[in-house]
Amino acid sequence: MADTLTITDNRTGKQYEVPINDSTIRALDLRQIKVTEDEFGLMTYDPAYQNTASCKSRITFIDGDKGILRYRGYPIEQLAEHSTFVETSYLLLNGELPTESQLAGWNQKLQWHAMLHENIKKFMEGFRYDAHPMGIFLSTVGALSTFYPEAKNVFDNEARYTQVARLVAKVPSIAGYAFRHSIGRPYVYPDPELSFIGNFLRMLFKKVERYKLDPILERAMDVLFILHADHEQNCSTSAMRSIGSSHADPYASLAGAAAALSGPLHGGANEAVLRMLAEIGSVENVPAFVKKVQAGEGRLMGFGHRVYKSYDPRATVIKQTAYQVFEVTGKNPLLDVALELERIALEDEYFISRKLYPNVDFYSGLIYEAMGFRPAMFPVLFAIGRTVGWIAQWEEMLQDSDQKIARPRQIYLGSEQRDFVPMADRS
Ligand code: CMC
Repeated sequence: MADTLTITDNRTGKQYEVPINDSTIRALDLRQIKVTEDEFGLMTYDPAYQNTASCKSRITFIDGDKGILRYRGYPIEQLAEHSTFVETSYLLLNGELPTESQLAGWNQKLQWHAMLHENIKKFMEGFRYDAHPMGIFLSTVGALSTFYPEAKNVFDNEARYTQVARLVAKVPSIAGYAFRHSIGRPYVYPDPELSFIGNFLRMLFKKVERYKLDPILERAMDVLFILHADHEQNCSTSAMRSIGSSHADPYASLAGAAAALSGPLHGGANEAVLRMLAEIGSVENVPAFVKKVQAGEGRLMGFGHRVYKSYDPRATVIKQTAYQVFEVTGKNPLLDVALELERIALEDEYFISRKLYPNVDFYSGLIYEAMGFRPAMFPVLFAIGRTVGWIAQWEEMLQDSDQKIARPRQIYLGSEQRDFVPMADRS
């Protein structure tokens, strides 16, 4: 059997044979299909890229029907159980798990770069007291580009490696400052004596007395960052690759990716879930809320996924983590509403027929809130974990000889050429 596809153009009766590689045909192979020689040639129309591979990647594998997620081949469940976020970030960025000395070196690099330039503090003071932390986060990441002009040398391996370490190390510090700004507390400087996660939690929650780190909460945060670290070609990662394809520096590209993440259908969903649960208020109100969703009045936030159609493996791990956290913090009072919502939705024809299951964001907000975060901070937490994936994908894009500047085509349906109408003649 040949690995080719034979296409008959019924407009002309001509046949074309195009190669199939990795269960894919190249869209450019369709360009030869035309009725007349001066025509542009056949294109594919795929709004929202529902069936178009935009790249080849060796980073993250997802089988949406089976609920499988792997980073560099390692199942997410194993990484969540045995790895740390710092180790997983090394894996995603370098392709292999680190040796002991490689991990120590990477940790040291991250500690070294965690500090922010003092001007960042002044920059943040410009935001209103009630500015959304995600807006502060993405603007500040973009502003870092002005502090490190050498970052524009994206093909200089050494310069690029420095920016990668800076970004992974500094995003928690930016998030910490954004959080403190939003609650009117003084910013806390990073402490290199602490672990990556321990330092982050201290930067957020330190009060006057010495900050006491709870190992269960520290581990929960570690697991949450691991679960969010990469998810192949989602909306924000595609934005990162797309912006980066113009050879913009990584700070500018990452600010764009974070902007894409902030929307309620993507990384803003965790915040939207908590607001939705609070609006429902109690278990008795769940059936009425589900009816409203069925009637097309809004979405059940934290449910559904473009790729996962049986379950989201991240949601399964998060649900277990939630119970461990609640042992320490006490149960989030909205947990019962969430459980009832999940129970009803999983038995309901509307959700079953559309293959809608809880996704990563359904339970993460309950954990974050129990740990002391306000809902507006949730997308920022997502962004810290995902920064690693964005960078790994950006570097892969830069090194891929198939890639060029991203530039989709369109089907133009607007007016034909017409002459300009002077103002006086317009009705
Ligand atoms: N509640 C109610 N109906 C839904 C939902 C939902 N959460 N999600 C999808 N549907 C319906 C949708 O109305 C459509 O119905 P119909 O066929 O009758 O028109 C059908 O299911 C297919 O939906 P879709 O919009 O074509 O699906 P999509 O693959 O384009 O969207 C999604 C995926 C995640 C944007 C969507 O499921 C959604 O809006 N979910 C809620 C927001 C959310 O939780 N987002 C976080 C995703 S996971 C974290 C991340 O990686 O970003």
